[in-house]
Amino acid sequence: MEVTKAIVKRVSIRKWKSDAVEKEKIEAVLEAGRRAPSWGNVQPWRFVVVQDKEKIAKMAEASGGQDVVANAPVVIACCGVTGDFSRKLQRDALKSVIDVGAMEWTDDFLDNVVLESEMFAPYLSGEVAMTIKAAEQIMIAVAYMTIEAVNQDLGTCWVGATSGTEVHRILDLPKSWFVHDLLPMGYANQDPDPRPRKPGKELFFWEKVD
Ligand SMILES: Cc1cc2nc3c(=O)[nH]c(=O)nc-3n(C[C@H](O)[C@H](O)[C@H](O)COP(=O)(O)O)c2cc1C
Repeated sequence: MEVTKAIVKRVSIRKWKSDAVEKEKIEAVLEAGRRAPSWGNVQPWRFVVVQDKEKIAKMAEASGGQDVVANAPVVIACCGVTGDFSRKLQRDALKSVIDVGAMEWTDDFLDNVVLESEMFAPYLSGEVAMTIKAAEQIMIAVAYMTIEAVNQDLGTCWVGATSGTEVHRILDLPKSWFVHDLLPMGYANQDPDPRPRKPGKELFFWEKVD
């Protein structure tokens, strides 16, 4: 499917068929997330695919009882790891792109300018800055995943209204991870039109703001 068509076709799906989702399709969606760009190529995201009905029921409870979670055949817990923004791991990530020629940075520039600058290195600003930075990257990956889901004839609905702490406990996740949001996914049992958006004239500006 053309990307433009998939972008227009993607709408939040909140009613699901009970059909199971093929593993290859779930893998294709995950792969789209893996291919997403990220700050310094840090890729601070982790994705936990949940199909167990009991766990899904508990995750729905942790999301204010939302049916979109409760009735989904698959729920992907979209998680982050702030530790990926440690000096060492951010350096390794940046090296991985420098080594393939993405940036012409010397080791000296990397070590003494980039990794010593708050503008480039969130670890210098502490845990909150690293969490925000990780959260931003997860959203990019999830956006890619929602588009690939359309390509796989699947529906998704981003669920940010969830208790990350509760979901973390339900899924018994590693201590260093945090849960950012959930992505229920499955075959749609509805076919909604695209939802309203602000008109371009309120949002787009060329050269100057009138
Ligand atoms: C970060 C984020 C969190 C969201 N959380 C929820 C949620 O908890 N429950 C829900 O039903 N929809 C949720 N949505 C879906 C939005 O309501 C939806 O994207 C918006 O109304 C536009 O509709 P559309 O996705 O169909 O275009 C969320 C969307 C985003 C991007």
